[in-house]
Amino acid sequence: MQNVPLNEPMSFDLYTNFSGDGSSNKFMKVFPIGEVFEVDDLNEIQEKYGRLYVLEEQRHLFLSGLISGNDISEEKKSEIIKSSAIEYLDQLFEPNKKFSTELLTQSVKKCQDAVAVMVDLVQDYSIDALQAHIARLSFHDFYTYDHSVNVAMYCIAFQRFLKPDSSQEELSLAGLGGMLHDIGKIQISTSIINKPEKLSPQEFAEIQRHPWFGKELLCEVDFEAPKGVDLDVLKRVVFEHHESFDGSGYPEGLKGEEIHRMARLTAICDFFDAITTKRAYNTVVSIPDALAIMSKAAGVKIDPNLFKSFCMHCGGKEPSSDSVSVLASDFDPCQPTKGLPLKGYRQS
Ligand SMILES: [Fe+2]
Ligand SMILES: [Fe+2]
Repeated sequence: MQNVPLNEPMSFDLYTNFSGDGSSNKFMKVFPIGEVFEVDDLNEIQEKYGRLYVLEEQRHLFLSGLISGNDISEEKKSEIIKSSAIEYLDQLFEPNKKFSTELLTQSVKKCQDAVAVMVDLVQDYSIDALQAHIARLSFHDFYTYDHSVNVAMYCIAFQRFLKPDSSQEELSLAGLGGMLHDIGKIQISTSIINKPEKLSPQEFAEIQRHPWFGKELLCEVDFEAPKGVDLDVLKRVVFEHHESFDGSGYPEGLKGEEIHRMARLTAICDFFDAITTKRAYNTVVSIPDALAIMSKAAGVKIDPNLFKSFCMHCGGKEPSSDSVSVLASDFDPCQPTKGLPLKGYRQS
C-alpha cells in the first residue's frame, strides 16, 4: 500500500479479496478509479481489509501512477517496474507452460505496457547513471529476464540520447526491442540457456537458432501494435541482434548498414549489460573497462559510430587505456557466463 500515490485521483480501482490470501476469485472493489485517495482512506482501508489488489488489466495504470507520484523513491519505482516486467517475461519463458499464440500475444501486450512505463522512468538517465541504478537493484538470477529488462532500459535511454526529440512510439520500439530481443529462447531447452559453463559446439549451434525462433514467434503474434510501433522493425531487432558490423555474426552474416539501426543499437546495449551487471556467475568490469573492451569490438561486432555516441552518453567516461583486453570471439552477451572470457584482463 505504500506504493499507492496519495492526495491525487486514483488512476485504478482497488480491490480486496474475501479469502484473505487472494486464493479465491472473490474480489470486491473498495476504492474506485478517479476519486482522490487521502491518508485517511489509506488508514481506513488498510485497517479494514489488509492486503489490497489491482486488476491485472489495470496493472499498467497502477505502474504509470506510481511513476508520476513524488512520494516514492526512484529506486522503489524501478524495483516495482522491473519486477513487474520480469513477471511478464516469466509468463513467456516458464518452461512448463502450454505454449499458445494467445499466451504469446497477451505477454507481448503486457511487455508493451511495461515498456511504456519504463520510458517515463528512464527519461533523464545517462547510461552511466542508469548503470549505477541497475547495479543497486538486486534481482534474481534468471539471466534472460533480468538481462532483457536491463537492455530495454538502456535501449530507451540510448535512443533518447541519439534523438532527443524521439516520439513516445520510437522510444517504445527501442524498449520493446530490448525487452524481446531474446524471445526466441523460449523454444530452446532451459538447460542450455541457463548453462554458465562453455557450451559444446552442438549446444552453441542450438543457441544460434534463437533469432530464427524469435522472428517466427513474432510472425505468429496476432496483436495490434501501438500506434506508430513498427512490428517489422521489432522483428528485425529480434532477428538481427547477433549480426556483427563486419559481417561475421549470425544468422545471416549481414554487415554494416544492412543490419537495422535499431538492431545495432540493441547489440551495443546487450553487450554493455552483459559485462557490467553483476549476476550469480559472472565477474563484472567498471564502465571505463567495459568501454575499453567494447572499443576492441567497434567496427567488428558493433557499429563504431553508434559506439562513439554511446561513450559520449556514459557521462564523458573514456575507455580505460591500461586494461586493454579482448573478449573471446565466441562471447555471447545473451548467455550467462562463468567469468568473462577476457584475455589478460587487469581490473583498473
Ligand atoms: Fe540473443
Ligand atoms: Fe542479450
